[in-house]
Amino acid sequence: MSKTLLVNGTIVNEDRIYAADVLIDGERIAKIEPGLSASSGENVIDVSGCHVLPGLIDDQVHFREPGLMHKATIATESLAAVCGGVTSYMEMPNTSPPTTTVEALAEKRDRALGRSHANFAFYLGATNENLDEIKRVALGEACGIKVFMGASTGNMLVDDPATLERIFAEATLPVATHCEDSPTIWQNEAQFKQRYGDDVPMACHPQIRSAEACYKSSSLAVELAKRFGTRLHVLHLTTERELNLFEPGPIEGKHITAEVCVHHLWFDESSYGALGARIKCNPAIKRHEDREALLAAVRDDRLDVIATDHAPHTLEEKQQTYFSAPAGLPLVQHSLQMLLEHHRNGRLTLEQIVRKAAHNPARLFGVKDRGFLREGYYGDIAVVDLERPERVTTENVRYKCGWSPLEGVELGASVVMTLVNGMVVVRNGEVLAEPGGRQLEFSE
Ligand code: DOR
Repeated sequence: MSKTLLVNGTIVNEDRIYAADVLIDGERIAKIEPGLSASSGENVIDVSGCHVLPGLIDDQVHFREPGLMHKATIATESLAAVCGGVTSYMEMPNTSPPTTTVEALAEKRDRALGRSHANFAFYLGATNENLDEIKRVALGEACGIKVFMGASTGNMLVDDPATLERIFAEATLPVATHCEDSPTIWQNEAQFKQRYGDDVPMACHPQIRSAEACYKSSSLAVELAKRFGTRLHVLHLTTERELNLFEPGPIEGKHITAEVCVHHLWFDESSYGALGARIKCNPAIKRHEDREALLAAVRDDRLDVIATDHAPHTLEEKQQTYFSAPAGLPLVQHSLQMLLEHHRNGRLTLEQIVRKAAHNPARLFGVKDRGFLREGYYGDIAVVDLERPERVTTENVRYKCGWSPLEGVELGASVVMTLVNGMVVVRNGEVLAEPGGRQLEFSE
């Protein structure tokens, strides 16, 4: 087993920033101490001037396998993830066929083994009909139950009130919800269609996928979780108003948690003019005031987790009119750099970034031995240089779909190296290892 020693770095971990070296022995971190000296056979890497972070755990991605592999595959998107310092991901069930049975979960796991560059887990998707699967799935087979309480990509809407109650009452894994009230959206769509026909301007998306639609659904989710004591995680919050549904404070002890995504912290409705369908996503990117409120809620710990909702579609699919262009944008390669940009602009601290994008997903889902830089934990590590800018271009985007909403943007910080399970998998953009991602393990 190989040993790697990262020397002269600055550690960011568990609310502290300090100088220390990191010794990795095989797959796991053996020591974190200042002044470790190299012994024979160690691969010594000098990371002077860089910060050493636990690799990110992205709790919401869509990698499109099986069935939608013209958009993305586990191999391509997990490689993009590790290039961006994301060492573990939790993938969504709206594939084709959808992941709505325990057997489909096992099939996805088999696809990921030997193909995924990052560690992985999968959600079981809820439907109006699969309560038996939700009750049957065991900890370890899925990271959680995904409930589309609003219709989005894929046809997975759960809108039967009695079924929703039973899911919230009987699920034993965390319930992660997409909250947008579909009847409200359908009504808005009809109004805009009447006004514009098929050619609705993309900038109308936040009025169609409205703040009201979000609140109606997320308040229902929170109400159900309070009634049934459910472990509820509300995904991708987008509005100021919804933030009142959540408590500020540390994640420990909360049974209702909230996630925000990097694009909702980055773009606002002023971006539709330049980017159009490229930033059409569900829930929609909304007002400047909403974005500011979301950033404030990350700081006051109303929002517990930051993820991407990485949702690749081809440019050809995106270059259609409003109703035909699919929702979703690819982000997983640049999420850490986007967060570091907020740090550079004085909006988020490094400790907050690490807490929301690595520690808290591990805590929330009970991920075993990952999400922190700790002796005995897996060597899942992102090394970043806060002073090395990188411009996003069509050429350096790794996604199968070949585009990013950030093309042309210069990001001030770079990910210089990523380790997964103790192995250096990417260094300065060069891929150095075969796919070695493992299935995540969970504890109660
Ligand atoms: O914008 C989105 N795209 N939101 C979702 O909920 C699904 C996702 C996708 O799978 O494309």
